[in-house]
Amino acid sequence: MKKVLIAYFSLAGMTAKMAEYIAEGVRLSGHEAVVKKIGDIKDTAEMTEYDGCIFGAPTFSLDLPKPMKTFLSTAAKVNLEGKLGGAFGAYTHDVAYRHDTHAPAIIFDILQKEHKMEPFALGPFNLPETKVETSEGMHACHDYGKAFGETVSS
Ligand SMILES: Cc1cc2nc3c(=O)[nH]c(=O)nc-3n(C[C@H](O)[C@H](O)[C@H](O)COP(=O)(O)O)c2cc1C
Repeated sequence: MKKVLIAYFSLAGMTAKMAEYIAEGVRLSGHEAVVKKIGDIKDTAEMTEYDGCIFGAPTFSLDLPKPMKTFLSTAAKVNLEGKLGGAFGAYTHDVAYRHDTHAPAIIFDILQKEHKMEPFALGPFNLPETKVETSEGMHACHDYGKAFGETVSS
């Protein structure tokens, strides 16, 4: 059984909810999922215990929230090279459909360029906050987590 970390920052709870649903999806694939707020990860070295990591944050001002930026930069000192990396988060509006202005795309890019993680084939996962607590939103999160679990074990 593989072990997947889902580490997130969430101000109003939408990205937190996505984290729980994604974890359920990983478990549906038969693997272990651990969900943590980034603020509860005191020593980023603990991330080396996992086979794959999925990081979540909402989009704030077309960017990452500062706590996630700081966390990822601290985590860059830890060797995560070759581990599978995914990203997710809630948002409210599209800017001319430029998904590179959403937090998950920014995280995904950092994971590849700075952490040398292996990019998860489904890419970054954005969900409008109005969909998070719908059955469609929950299933989309389950699917992302399940596919991540299946990939990490292949
Ligand atoms: C300060 C601030 C800036 C925001 N900027 C954006 C933005 O640029 N684009 C966007 O789509 N949503 C933006 N939002 C909306 C959040 O991304 C959205 O409400 C999200 O669901 C919050 O996630 P959370 O519940 O995990 O904190 C912003 C929200 C806040 C509080």
